[in-house]
Amino acid sequence: MIRRTDFPILNKKIKGQPLVYFDNASTAQKSRPVIEAVSNFYQNDNANVHRGLNPLADEATKKYESVRNLVADFIGAKKEEIIFTSGATAGVNLVARSWGEANLRAGDIVVLSIAEHHANIVPWLQLQKKIGIKLEYIPLEADGSWDLLAAKKLLNKRRVRLLAVSQVSNVLGIINPVAQLTKLAKQKGIVTLIDAAQSVAHLKIDVKKIACDFLVFSGHKLGGPTGIGILYGRQELLLATPPFMGGGDMISFVKSDSFGVSDLPYKFEAGTPNIAGVVGLGAALKYLESVGYNSIHKQEQGLTIYFLQKIKKLKAVKIFGTAKAKLPIFALTINGIHPHDAADILGQAGIILRAGHHCAQPLHDYLGVPATLRASLSFYNTKKEIDYFVSKLAELIKAFK
Ligand SMILES: Cc1ncc(COP(=O)(O)O)c(C=O)c1O
Repeated sequence: MIRRTDFPILNKKIKGQPLVYFDNASTAQKSRPVIEAVSNFYQNDNANVHRGLNPLADEATKKYESVRNLVADFIGAKKEEIIFTSGATAGVNLVARSWGEANLRAGDIVVLSIAEHHANIVPWLQLQKKIGIKLEYIPLEADGSWDLLAAKKLLNKRRVRLLAVSQVSNVLGIINPVAQLTKLAKQKGIVTLIDAAQSVAHLKIDVKKIACDFLVFSGHKLGGPTGIGILYGRQELLLATPPFMGGGDMISFVKSDSFGVSDLPYKFEAGTPNIAGVVGLGAALKYLESVGYNSIHKQEQGLTIYFLQKIKKLKAVKIFGTAKAKLPIFALTINGIHPHDAADILGQAGIILRAGHHCAQPLHDYLGVPATLRASLSFYNTKKEIDYFVSKLAELIKAFK
């Protein structure tokens, strides 16, 4: 069941106006169980994990590892396949530095979509510079969905080694048919990486159904703390991949002139992890499951349809990404008003939006606009909030005429 009252921050007022939080694609708000889990960990259980041999460390380790099991069940993976990272960005970088550097050679092709977040572009540009790999981008249809014909053509190129794409664009909100491409990639021996940073808070993820080799997401976008994320890797691939970070916890032994690598998943978790973050992530996953993806989907689809109906009445507004399979993430431009001005002025009315390129500059170049105004909603948002946003935007358009 959806209970808005579970989110204390939603009671906040900004300049005397109720907070209308429409920046969920940036980071989602935290429910009370998540806030309490993190606070409780620091108040009652704080200790380092895996190294204690004392009751407090044992308890912290138990809590930490129980979340690994939870995440594994949550996405249909084995616990050895779940690596705790600091977020989606760290996950993509880990794949690029560990798997990429060990397996990619000059001239090999990595296929991305033009709608990727910088987190899934820059690590590959870095390898382009370092190794000489080539990047190819899947273009989009006019409605923001992938041009599947072009995508299939790209995957037919002989030197393609990796397909790395997001399940949902953080700008357009379009739900991409990732399983169609991973299936094709598999037939061709192409490794696949799915960026689920935006999708995981809205759609049930099953790595077996997506049939990908790697998948990344961040805890904070699904209501968990910042600084914690997940890299899923298929066991066989992770076993064959060398770690790129060295230090405590990832070793089986260290001598003055050599070291041995630990078992999965620890070989990719060097150093003291974000233990309280892991505990908070566990609480966030349990919370999402208690609300239920069916309720979330139903509510969010209702909000998407309502938002599009209402915004259509404002003739000065152009929406990017209108394909039917869409989450409530809306990028728009307004005739005669810069997105930054709109975000600033609407912010004074308590409406929290984001303006800019949203870490997707190649997409904005492709769309031919330097910046957009983004409203991104979650299941705890309401139609009343959409009405308020649309009325304030209408006032703004009138004032700028
Ligand atoms: C699609 C997508 N990928 C990756 C990221 C990076 O996530 P983080 O900054 O949590 O590492 C984001 C963040 O906005 C995103 O939207």
